[in-house]
Amino acid sequence: MKLNGQRRWAAAGVVVATVVATLGVAMSAPAGAAPGCRVDYTANPWGGGGFGAAVKVTNLGDAISGGWTLKFTLSGSQRVAQGWSANWTQSGQNVTATSLSWNGNLGTGASTDLGFNGSNAASGDANPASFTLNGTVCTGGTVPTSTTTTTTTTTSNDPGPGNRVDNPYVGAKQYVNPDWSAKASAEAGGSRIANQPTGVWMDRIAAITGTTGARGLAAHLDEAVRQAAGSPLVIQLVIYNLPGRDCSALASNGELKATEIDRYKTEYIDPIAAILARPAYSGLRIVTTVEIDSLPNLITNVSPRPTAVPACDVMKANGNYVTGVGYALAKLGAVPNVYNYLDIGHHGWIGWDDNFGATADLLFQAANASGSTKANVQGFIANTANYGALKEPYFKIEDSVNGTSVRQSKWVDWNRYVDELSYAQAFRQRAVQAGFDSNVGMLIDTSRNGWGGSARPAGPGPTTSVDAYVNGGKLDRRIHLGNWCNQSGAGLGERPKAAPESGIDAYVWMKPPGESDGASEEIPNNEGKGADKMCDPTYTGNVRNGNSMSGALGDAPLSGHWFSAQFQELMRNAYPAL
Ligand code: BGC
Repeated sequence: MKLNGQRRWAAAGVVVATVVATLGVAMSAPAGAAPGCRVDYTANPWGGGGFGAAVKVTNLGDAISGGWTLKFTLSGSQRVAQGWSANWTQSGQNVTATSLSWNGNLGTGASTDLGFNGSNAASGDANPASFTLNGTVCTGGTVPTSTTTTTTTTTSNDPGPGNRVDNPYVGAKQYVNPDWSAKASAEAGGSRIANQPTGVWMDRIAAITGTTGARGLAAHLDEAVRQAAGSPLVIQLVIYNLPGRDCSALASNGELKATEIDRYKTEYIDPIAAILARPAYSGLRIVTTVEIDSLPNLITNVSPRPTAVPACDVMKANGNYVTGVGYALAKLGAVPNVYNYLDIGHHGWIGWDDNFGATADLLFQAANASGSTKANVQGFIANTANYGALKEPYFKIEDSVNGTSVRQSKWVDWNRYVDELSYAQAFRQRAVQAGFDSNVGMLIDTSRNGWGGSARPAGPGPTTSVDAYVNGGKLDRRIHLGNWCNQSGAGLGERPKAAPESGIDAYVWMKPPGESDGASEEIPNNEGKGADKMCDPTYTGNVRNGNSMSGALGDAPLSGHWFSAQFQELMRNAYPAL
């Protein structure tokens, strides 16, 4: 939850000043006849010499029909790498943009937006000093016959009022992913939820351009602009492709090896940031869930803890999770309409005292890594793709039974929280203590934590023992809090909702219901995904789930692939019911 107009450009490595250059002064001029134009040029740097330039051309003179030509001169050795909404050519420093068939007519007072992604910017570069449209210098007014014109160029490092709002979900529609929606509708009864907004997962490099059955990022954003139809709209993306991804499990291992941080930057984050920065998408509120299941692993699953996993030790030692998260925050946060939410696992992972504060502190470190600052963090997301109940109405952490605290029950096992809402609200406070802005907001993924259906308890458990009390009253019917793969008995949770509770920006469905958490047996694939025992219903567990049964549904497909049986069960056990 950020304030309007907050500065977002502090990222190091920025070589082009953020510039809003408006050429021209309003002048009184004879109406009609004379030619005139105005150009608003905004350059957003994203480091490494790259930048996105938004160019708004307004015709202030007679109507133009049959095409126009815009010319300007770039500073230094800047290049137009890729442009849109015009034909772009460059000769030396001189750039020419000519209209396309659909924007060649510009009535008096009409504007058209074009732009380009640029490269080779260097510090000290300036914005173009002047523009011509069909040969007329754009002064911001019509060209009068007998007055002296003045050109004013305003150049500033301050972006001025940004367009971020405190809580992006308030007053906004949400994007319905047509690819997920089609799968949901194809299921019996699925149309009841097929119009819910769900997260769009950028789970590998190929997802940026699109894969079989899933459109690419720009196509999603184009569709989002269409769905927005001029109103505020939130589109939710999941940034999920760190080197050595998912170090403590195998089901969602990724394509990048532990050392491939450069590929993460140049082949994954940079192209995503470039697409998000396109002016056509500047009206969208783009929420990003940044790298789930990464940083918490560096707290809980490393040596000398008994839960240590060698691959997590590697990621801690090479620093690539921290470097990668910082880089993602800096690059994505440089786009003024992106809202970054960092993943904080869930209460059944980070809710213990040893993990809680350490995670908040590590997140703050990552938020200040790779040129990022805390200003790039809008908030945090809990429970992504997990199953923790939102609220446990029938027991509280303060309760005790015959003098024994519920913290001593087998289920709670000294955790400090019993549900996701209390965990998320407390984490918010701790994050602020770690150094984050006091207006950060929380998201909670409620896609699969409903725990309804006939087995849902209707009241507290018996007070015969602390275990009977907790086990009899808890909504979360997992065998162990550490179970995470395709949990049997789960249901859809609260429908997506803005500002549902204090400190909570929204309940969201970040994990699309019906998409598997992982397979128990190797299935050949080109997504880097392995098989995980935690997805095998006959597996008897490991130290991370208290050596308990996995509680998984059988015969699951690869993570991310459609799992009809699970989708049907989630609908049956939905709470609130469908
Ligand atoms: C998978 C991703 C998938 C996501 C959403 C993750 O577990 O690894 O490939 O896109 O779930 O279903």
